[in-house]
Amino acid sequence: MIKNSKVALLFGFFIFTWGSTVLSQVADTPVIHSQRPPMAQLQLEELASIVSQREDSQQLWAPIPGWAYGYDSQPLPGDTPPVPRPGNGVLLQGEDIAEIKRPLSLEGSSATFTRQEIRHAQDVIDWFPEDYPPMPDIIKYGPESLRGGPDWACGSCHLPNGKGRPSNAPTAGLPVSYMVQQLNDMRNGLRYSADPRKPNMPNMIRMAKAMTEEEILESAEFWAAVPWTRRLYVMEAELIPEMYLNPNNNMFFTVGTEPIEPLAGRIVETPIDTYQADYLRNPRSGFNVYVPVGSLAKGEELVVNGGAGKTIQCGICHGSDLMGLGAIPGIAGRSPSYMMRSLYDLKQGTRNGAGAQLMKPVIENLNIDDMTNIVAYLASIVPPTPEQED
Ligand code: HEC
Ligand code: HEC
Repeated sequence: MIKNSKVALLFGFFIFTWGSTVLSQVADTPVIHSQRPPMAQLQLEELASIVSQREDSQQLWAPIPGWAYGYDSQPLPGDTPPVPRPGNGVLLQGEDIAEIKRPLSLEGSSATFTRQEIRHAQDVIDWFPEDYPPMPDIIKYGPESLRGGPDWACGSCHLPNGKGRPSNAPTAGLPVSYMVQQLNDMRNGLRYSADPRKPNMPNMIRMAKAMTEEEILESAEFWAAVPWTRRLYVMEAELIPEMYLNPNNNMFFTVGTEPIEPLAGRIVETPIDTYQADYLRNPRSGFNVYVPVGSLAKGEELVVNGGAGKTIQCGICHGSDLMGLGAIPGIAGRSPSYMMRSLYDLKQGTRNGAGAQLMKPVIENLNIDDMTNIVAYLASIVPPTPEQED
């Protein structure tokens, strides 16, 4: 009863807010019209039910490491994610049409795209088609059952090359069977975010549910074939440049030049070049990672030696180079924000599929500091450069 009224309330709120957003967008933009209807009622209903199925009453095992989830506060009981708003062709209020429609280019690519094309979430642009096999439709346009959205394509969040963004997950170079398992875990309610505010996770789950078996396999095979290469530049620091935590995409952006902001136990993962990474969405663009002083050595001890019995040596399962082994995913040189969320969610139990059971003894005795040290060290590992095929 309580559950149903909660769903109804949430659903009503989505419809109301979404409807008014779309209306104001259309009303303010006589020049460009979206051909697309607002997010279908059925999809919103589904989203509301995903959110309401969470075990919200459960206690968190430790305060959420906000930096990993993209928040500077703790979730409160009853928190829900905001209404989803995928970017598409629609102009927003007060936007400069000339700027949005200006052809843009970037070094190393012969392509040009406008900002309007770059931010289109359901028709993913391709700066470097030579970096990966041809993008299948599932990556470029998203699940067929959701097309005509506005909605998202897989490549819009994870980027076509599967490098991902700190707020989602790096998918390149993961084993096919592992990705298939994760998407099924999401479909079966075995994987969601410990932070109920995190907006993209319910959408990820909704998309996993909308996929056909063929689409699941096709997307997994595509990303599995893209080698995981260097993305991160890690440095220990007490003070870092001033950061802006963008509430719209839960990512840190560097706004200062002098190191004046205390890192204070966090890990901050931020684009080296905001214009490249965020405005142009250059999938090759790298990230700076600031980690606490001393964390790399402490993390290495836990990862490589198991910290004198505190945990289990990661290489036994993840491969001696930590780049993955069989059906077990690589963990070297991948987003520390994502790695931290994974460890926290695994320990919280919001990630609880078959594979997760193998991680239980690994995390049992780890606290937030241990996990922070571990993911700092993992991020600092430079993945081997794949051999060039001539
Ligand atoms: C709205 C953004 C968004 C879109 C679009 C999206 N994902 Fe995700 N994806 C996420 C998030 C968020 C996570 C999990 C991050 C976390 O656990 O904190 C994720 C996780 C994953 C994972 C698990 C990775 C791992 O290491 O366990 C796979 C596989 C994946 N997505 C595949 C897909 C596929 C295939 C599509 C297209 C149907 C897709 N995603 C579309 C946001 C997105
Ligand atoms: C006994 C085998 C085993 C050991 C030892 C192990 N792992 Fe794992 N790990 C797994 C499996 C299996 C998964 C996939 C979990 C799932 O399916 O949800 C995983 C997943 C992960 C993930 C999430 C990856 C992703 O893409 O979402 C992280 C992070 C991780 N492990 C870190 C570690 C660290 C750090 C250590 C060492 C301290 C470690 N693991 C030791 C088996 C292991």
